[in-house]
Amino acid sequence: MKLKGVRGAPDLLPQESARWQSIEATTRSLLQRYGYAEIRTPVFERTELFVRGIGEGTDIVEKEMYTFTDRGDVSLTLRPEGTAPVARAYLEHQMAAQSPLVKVFYLGPMFRRERPQSGRYRQFHQIGVEAIGSDRPAVDAEVIDILWALMVEEFRIPDLQLRLNSIGDAVCRPTIRDRLSRYMANRSSTLCQDCQGRLTRNPLRIMDCKQPGCQQLVAEAPKPIDGLCDACAIHFAEVRDLLDLLKIPYTIDDRLVRGLEYYTKTAFEVINPRLGAQNALAGGGRYDGLIEMVGGSPTPAMGFAVGMERVMASLPLAPEESALHGIYVATIGQEAQRMGMGLLQDLRRRGVRGLMDLETRSLKGQMRQANKERVRYCLIVGEEELRRGQAMLRDMVKADQAPVELDQIVERLMGLEGM
Ligand code: HAM
Repeated sequence: MKLKGVRGAPDLLPQESARWQSIEATTRSLLQRYGYAEIRTPVFERTELFVRGIGEGTDIVEKEMYTFTDRGDVSLTLRPEGTAPVARAYLEHQMAAQSPLVKVFYLGPMFRRERPQSGRYRQFHQIGVEAIGSDRPAVDAEVIDILWALMVEEFRIPDLQLRLNSIGDAVCRPTIRDRLSRYMANRSSTLCQDCQGRLTRNPLRIMDCKQPGCQQLVAEAPKPIDGLCDACAIHFAEVRDLLDLLKIPYTIDDRLVRGLEYYTKTAFEVINPRLGAQNALAGGGRYDGLIEMVGGSPTPAMGFAVGMERVMASLPLAPEESALHGIYVATIGQEAQRMGMGLLQDLRRRGVRGLMDLETRSLKGQMRQANKERVRYCLIVGEEELRRGQAMLRDMVKADQAPVELDQIVERLMGLEGM
């Protein structure tokens, strides 16, 4: 019986990897310009980190974590997201001592046991950005600017919407939550099964429930944005003012609450309306309480994560064809093949992309391969020519060819454009 991969955990095949690498390279280059450095945390952590960080009343912690007991009795979980691990690393390595504002990014796989569907996977990849140590609205604005630059300027995804909200902090959130619970409790018969449960555990989550009955109630419900304390309201106004200054278009979405409990104040998502049900390309916000929740002293922070599979689904299908480059050495006979292997070893060590046939394909087959590999040059080495110390060099762009002497072939080839 042929074994299959796990549903919701797709393979990334060689023909797709160039696009991923290009997205990754663009991301690294942009983040370096903003002064962010890469952090790589393990793919698993102690379960408690996520329970405390993401929150017990969330879908992720309640039903989506891949949790297992390590030999002995330590409960470990494959990371469903990257913010709590970064917060843990920040504390563990006393990163606060290095800088008052620690700016890091990460790229890598995350794991959630969700029901797989188009755009929703059980293993997916995120680009994450975290700025830890400042409560200034300028940090919110710069972080959102990074996200917008990445999606719009760098990836060039059209028609995106940035949705923005403020969901209050430790001062005003309890009142916001109470008002909402009281409102909903009086009308709970129209709430869906899930939201009945959320009523006590996580009433804010009712705000973004898609069920028609719940949506109807939410339309009239008290909004977090109307219950902000003065500090949160001022912070939000300053963030909006800076986004205007940076010419980043946004809409206020007063129902946006996010699925993780660590958020405070600013919350946002980037939506691609062309993507269907799973249309959130990125999400993030401020999380001024998280560092404390995982054992540190109160430390404000802000960040976002982008879903890379959803970015891929938003890009135009035909990738840009790269320019022809490198060389294919086509050989006839064993002697020529031996000579070709030696030559390519030399060229590759000098940084050239060089390919050849290691089977015994016909010359026609080798030329077909050379075309497929999009090389700039083809060096054809036949038995006769080899004896005369020559080979034929074909320029695949100009479509012309000329004999070349083999005694100084490396120097000659290294001087060519497109090698
Ligand atoms: P999140 O909204 O849970 O936030 O995830 C961020 C993005 O990851 C989503 O907008 C989506 O594009 C992608 N994503 C999430 N789940 C899946 C899935 N099952 N399949 C495919 N893509 C998915 C966070 O994870 C926060 N840690 C973001 C953050 C960083 N907040 C502050 N800093």
